[in-house]
Amino acid sequence: MQTKREGLVIFSDIGNCAGLKKAANLSSSDILNEIRSSNLKGRGGAGFPTGLKWNFVVEDRSDIKYVVCNADEGEPGTFKDKVLLMEYPQLVFEGMIIAAFTSGAKEGFLYLRGEYKSFVPSLEKILKEMRKKRFLGKDILGKEGFHFDIEIKLGSGAYVCGEETGLIESLEGNRGEPRNKPPFPVNTGYNGCPTVLNNVETFAIIPHIIAKGADWFKGIGTEKSAGTKLISISGDCKRPGVYEVEFGTKIKDILKIAKAQDVKAVSAGASGECVPKAQFSRRLGFEDFSTGGSIIVFGKKRDMFEVTENALRFFEDESCGQCTPCREGIPVLLEGIELIKKGECPKDYLKDLLSLSETMQLTSKCGLGQSSPNLFVSVINNFKKEYTLSKIPKEEKAFNG
Ligand SMILES: Cc1cc2nc3c(=O)[nH]c(=O)nc-3n(C[C@H](O)[C@H](O)[C@H](O)COP(=O)(O)O)c2cc1C
Repeated sequence: MQTKREGLVIFSDIGNCAGLKKAANLSSSDILNEIRSSNLKGRGGAGFPTGLKWNFVVEDRSDIKYVVCNADEGEPGTFKDKVLLMEYPQLVFEGMIIAAFTSGAKEGFLYLRGEYKSFVPSLEKILKEMRKKRFLGKDILGKEGFHFDIEIKLGSGAYVCGEETGLIESLEGNRGEPRNKPPFPVNTGYNGCPTVLNNVETFAIIPHIIAKGADWFKGIGTEKSAGTKLISISGDCKRPGVYEVEFGTKIKDILKIAKAQDVKAVSAGASGECVPKAQFSRRLGFEDFSTGGSIIVFGKKRDMFEVTENALRFFEDESCGQCTPCREGIPVLLEGIELIKKGECPKDYLKDLLSLSETMQLTSKCGLGQSSPNLFVSVINNFKKEYTLSKIPKEEKAFNG
């Protein structure tokens, strides 16, 4: 795996804890204003404005608050947080400390994907060093009353525990199942207290914004997607790896960086959109081609229905089973893929499958069920030439039988 080190934001140098040192001399509202004005949006997938999220926690008058870093990273094809935690852990912790200073939280957790267990000793070492330098612990940087520390908690390998409320359940020692929302973690998070919960990359960006300013940050990227995005590129390319790419970059230029040739399509992971070659002039960004961090490259020999089947099998395994659209919908889509592959899917049934996909997107309890049909839908819409439908209408084929 290769990691491209130069970058405009995250892979740029700001010096040792420069963001935190600067933040310690600002007020909570100054920091909040800076983050809000930077237009930073969360890098975990949903793209929720970070300043707004922090504001909810700041405004909550509860005495006990928490900061949680989501390092579950279970989306197939995503490994950018892994690189941050291996190579820039202090930056991530620094972002968490700034969040604590802003919100008034005294305790924080790094919820680490179970498969990243081997990083724990090196992460603990960094935390120890940060305590020694008074970046963590009591009276941080000599600021009276500014106490905060971070504990590492390991997940156990369930993808759904990356969903913020499933993560909180797991952190509390319960079965990792998403909660109903509202209430949201900003008010009712860990142990029922207001919680700032962000992705690893989001936290890693914070010190840069504080050190260099909101105007600098929003000068990079596009109007609706400020800054850069770390992307994990995998699949049919010569240079897979983690790259920091400015929002607004065209897909075709990202493919050049990864030295990918004869590409048929790319997908934003297993849960994202699949974009065919004809649309490679589209741009990376929340308003266009949006990804939580994964870009999987498919060469011309790939069967897109095999790809979709793989993704759906993953979701079938990982569904927590709480809600019907997700639990029952995914197996029906898989059955549909089988029919499509055999050329036995009638046109009317394909319509039913697309309508089922929409129901799953709209009514599943959490993002797993909501996003599980995305790849299926975009492959059906974009790869029409690769399948033939049966001319015989499907008799009374009910979704449940
Ligand atoms: C099934 C599922 C898995 C998720 N996995 C992750 C993850 O591994 N890391 C992450 O930051 N967000 C993940 N998310 C999104 C989180 O629920 C949440 O939106 C995010 O952590 C918020 O951080 P941000 O505002 O910094 O993006 C996942 C969502 C779903 C539905």
